[in-house]
Amino acid sequence: MDTGADAGRAYDVVLFGATGFVGELTAEYLAAHAPTECRWALAGRNRAGLTALRERLTASWPHCAELPLVVADAADPGSLRELAESARVVATTVGPYVWYGDGLVGACAEAGTDYVDLTGEAEFVDLTYVRHDARARETGARIVHACGFDSVPHDLGVYFTVQQLPEDVPLRVDGFVRAGAQFSGGTFASALTAFGRGREILRAAHERRLHEPRLVGRRARAPLGGPRFSRETGTWALPLPTLDPQVVARSAAALDRYGPDFRYRHYASVKTLPMALGGTAAIGASVAAAQLPPVRAWLMERYQAGQGPSAERRARSWFSVRFVGEGGGRRVFTEVSGGDPGYDETAKMLAESALSLAFDPLPKTSGQVTTAVAMGDALIGRLRSAGIRFRVAHRG
Ligand SMILES: NC(=O)c1ccc[n+]([C@@H]2O[C@H](COP(=O)([O-])OP(=O)(O)OC[C@H]3O[C@@H](n4cnc5c(N)ncnc54)[C@H](OP(=O)(O)O)[C@@H]3O)[C@@H](O)[C@H]2O)c1
Repeated sequence: MDTGADAGRAYDVVLFGATGFVGELTAEYLAAHAPTECRWALAGRNRAGLTALRERLTASWPHCAELPLVVADAADPGSLRELAESARVVATTVGPYVWYGDGLVGACAEAGTDYVDLTGEAEFVDLTYVRHDARARETGARIVHACGFDSVPHDLGVYFTVQQLPEDVPLRVDGFVRAGAQFSGGTFASALTAFGRGREILRAAHERRLHEPRLVGRRARAPLGGPRFSRETGTWALPLPTLDPQVVARSAAALDRYGPDFRYRHYASVKTLPMALGGTAAIGASVAAAQLPPVRAWLMERYQAGQGPSAERRARSWFSVRFVGEGGGRRVFTEVSGGDPGYDETAKMLAESALSLAFDPLPKTSGQVTTAVAMGDALIGRLRSAGIRFRVAHRG
């Protein structure tokens, strides 16, 4: 709620990148679901685009006619400073974040403004830790990356699973992701960018290790498992080296509830061996293609920024993440599931994360924090109310 430095801020929530594909879905979600007392604004680099978006929103939600518009550009540090100083929480969809994101994180850290984004880029998260975590701790800003399908269902799903297991014992959790969906130009650009930056990703991880205090007296790990047939789910499990397991390990390191020795393994779950082999080959081919700048540029051109799957396609999309947790002689099977993972549910997760930081009574945190650490129970409650399922399937 409005306290201290926050009291003079013009807005509770500002949505930056509102004119992009996920940005517009997030704006629609806020138009439909933000509480009436929430003072929120649309932000982006293009006033005409923002005005057109406001008109589209007003056609369905007349109360949006007066929505304030904030013009800011990722390349203009002064505009980012003004943006950060105007808000209690900034939610941004302006990516690839490794290209466009750092200035805004720095501005929020400096202004003591809470920040949420949709990054799935490990390099970006490590770099902002090195550059801005210390300042954010000083000002009280909460910097919460990965508030979309990367990594909310995985981070909160493991948090939920851990709550079903005994305290103060070593815990093991495996997560198995399945989805039926399509992706947008922005996501494709971010994935190709990441595939082409292997060396930079390793360098940023190394930098982070030099800065981050080591965990003392407990262990929290997320090693890459090998491919295997999972008897628990009856599917093939392929290791998924995304940002998600890193986020889970950071939550485990921060929260004693994950026990003295915690291990998480993250997998894609596929039904048959040919599908498993095909999936591995397709990812390998994309990584290989991204190493060649002309091929990467050609692929980027084929997927236009601002475009993504149609509403009909999204309505048929779904995701399910199953977890198997064990510890202290107990075993539990849980699941987080919902609709279109990359866009509809991602927009919902981003908007609810921003609203949670703005309005929920949360544990006191600051600096770079995960969704589980910053908002765990409150965000699970919000997402459940918004139709994302968290359930215990059975206990073994
Ligand atoms: N975590 C997840 O699960 C998940 C899911 C979906 C997307 N994402 C990520 O979210 C990001 C957005 O995806 P998208 O599909 O919405 O992409 P998009 O349609 O290309 O939107 C990008 C947005 O960034 C804005 N932008 C670009 N350069 C800018 C600058 N210099 N200053 C200010 N704004 C600028 C664009 O503004 P204009 O409209 O003016 O061009 C647009 O609003 C991507 O990084 C994607 O990887 C993550």
